[in-house]
Amino acid sequence: MTKLEPFPERIYVTRPVFPTIDEVTDKLRDIWAAKWLTNNGPQHTMLEQELTDALKVPYLSLFNNGTIALIVACQSLRLSGEVITTPFTFAATPHVLSWNNIRPIFCDIDPDTMNIDADKIESMITPQTTAILAVHVFGTPCNVEKIQEVADRYGLKVVYDAAHAFGVEIGGRGIGTFGDISMFSFHATKLYHTVEGGALTHNDTHLKQRIDLLKNFGIKNEEEVVMPGINGKLNEISAAVGRIMLGYVEAERQKRIALHKVYDEELADVDGLTLMPKCGDDVKLNYQYYVVRIDEKLFGRSRDFVYDEFKKFNVYSRKYFHPLCSEFTCYRQLNSSRVENLPVANEVGKQVLSLPMYGDLTADDIRKICAILKSFRR
Ligand SMILES: Cc1ncc(COP(=O)(O)O)c(C=O)c1O
Repeated sequence: MTKLEPFPERIYVTRPVFPTIDEVTDKLRDIWAAKWLTNNGPQHTMLEQELTDALKVPYLSLFNNGTIALIVACQSLRLSGEVITTPFTFAATPHVLSWNNIRPIFCDIDPDTMNIDADKIESMITPQTTAILAVHVFGTPCNVEKIQEVADRYGLKVVYDAAHAFGVEIGGRGIGTFGDISMFSFHATKLYHTVEGGALTHNDTHLKQRIDLLKNFGIKNEEEVVMPGINGKLNEISAAVGRIMLGYVEAERQKRIALHKVYDEELADVDGLTLMPKCGDDVKLNYQYYVVRIDEKLFGRSRDFVYDEFKKFNVYSRKYFHPLCSEFTCYRQLNSSRVENLPVANEVGKQVLSLPMYGDLTADDIRKICAILKSFRR
């Protein structure tokens, strides 16, 4: 076998999709002509409509990022007390609860999907529980039916962190139509982006009015401020980039589908590796990430070993999501954070590794990454 050489340049876990500079320049000219930079300008209005259609949702409100959007989602539903969520997510998910003076209650995850285990939610409900905040981790849909059933039985709200789930559908239905509100992140590293940005989606016209007030300081008109809102507005330049990026997202998704196939083929029979969860035919995925789990006993090497050794080959993978949110210094004193309460999340957190995934990679790049990974096995 020929010796595996490092990549000549660093291969990061992802790389933002860039539109052409000419497309951006054209849109900048439109903005300069309109002399409107922020506060519900023409680009913002058009993007809101275009995304409402693209995500197949009745209502959508744009935001300057996903975190502020999720903070506003909690405010708009008047959540308080305790909210049941997952420890296997990005820091923003429990942090938005803290910013709303809500205690996050961590529920264990499903070993297959890595999403909140819907069968375990009920046992965590107390008189203080007001909602379930679930995350479609890596774009794999949660068990939306079961979550809604539990929520309905106990009169709880359901909020989805759909930061990873742009364009995901179940049975032709936009993922953002499930629950009371969903949040999408349009951060530069996402499949679809507005440089920084985000959105809330929901099915309720009154909620749209409340959310739009909350994201603009609660200002109703020049004479009235009706609630303590925040600045969650998306500016015109980001909105314009977002309009351009809508023309890129499906092509990028197709490239990633092809790269997923290569990973799947190359890694299918490697003992000790669990590949991305598969979904039913009725689910349309976005193929944003490629994540594996490494079982140290079967693979002969730990996830941390693989992560470190990959760097010697210029492959910069990421340990998403490690540490778990329940391990953060600000949350580890919670009763729900105890390791014995979260056995699956703690195991998955030690095993998970996000591998490079973006449309500019070639099939040969992926084959080489897989060969390097397989060479670590003992
Ligand atoms: C699961 C999850 N939730 C929330 C966020 C926060 O979104 P934003 O970066 O747009 O504020 C992110 C990532 O960026 C995320 O991955």
